Amino acid sequence: MIIAANLKTNLTRHDTALYIEEVEKCAQKSEQEVLIFPAISSLDTFETKVEVGTQNAYPTINGAFTGEIGLEQLDEFGIKTILIGHSERRHILGESQEFIAQKFDYFKDQGFKIVYCVGEPKEVREAGKMKMLAYISAQYEGIDTAYENLIIAYEPVWAIGTGLTPTLEDIQDIHTELKKKSPAPLLYGGSVKVNNIKDVLQVKNVDGVLVGSAALYAEHFCTMIEYADALEK
Ligand code: 13P
Repeated sequence: MIIAANLKTNLTRHDTALYIEEVEKCAQKSEQEVLIFPAISSLDTFETKVEVGTQNAYPTINGAFTGEIGLEQLDEFGIKTILIGHSERRHILGESQEFIAQKFDYFKDQGFKIVYCVGEPKEVREAGKMKMLAYISAQYEGIDTAYENLIIAYEPVWAIGTGLTPTLEDIQDIHTELKKKSPAPLLYGGSVKVNNIKDVLQVKNVDGVLVGSAALYAEHFCTMIEYADALEK
């Protein structure tokens, strides 16, 4: 399974290095594919089994894009994994589907492993399944769903950082629909915690998780990795 941590705008560079060191110890003992997305200022060269990726980058080698980083800055640290389409970038930072697709193409051409996020806001979910599927389908526009280095993460916006999660039946239902769109591994994200990860990982068509706040302590994230190992035994 794929167990991924999105640290968002948390932990300093110093604390991130300690965090990765701790998680590396459990990843070494684990069968899982472990990914960590630290804040950009915490990126570095990590010679670890844990794969460190960037939460964002601009589709450019370098240039005049104030506040962004490009390929040159990622290459410095050997980073070949990127998160694209996260709901916080779509909704807070206003990234359009067109721009997201452009970014996807750029990093695909560079051979990056792409964790591509989709998910609906609350009002869309409340509008019924058809509307919800149409909304999520639009987030696949311009995306090469057959890209061999693609991982998709379904993250309902209303479940992110709220402590709310869809029911396991709802997760299975939407994951089954999304599996028809792409053969890529499909992660669930949104309020995954130590106390619900076992249930989520056992849902059909869930190939792993993308965890935010509950992954901020290495000890908790390690427990999740261990739970995933136990389930596979
Ligand atoms: P939380 O786990 O804090 O809900 O965040 C999920 C997320 O956005 C991961 O990308």
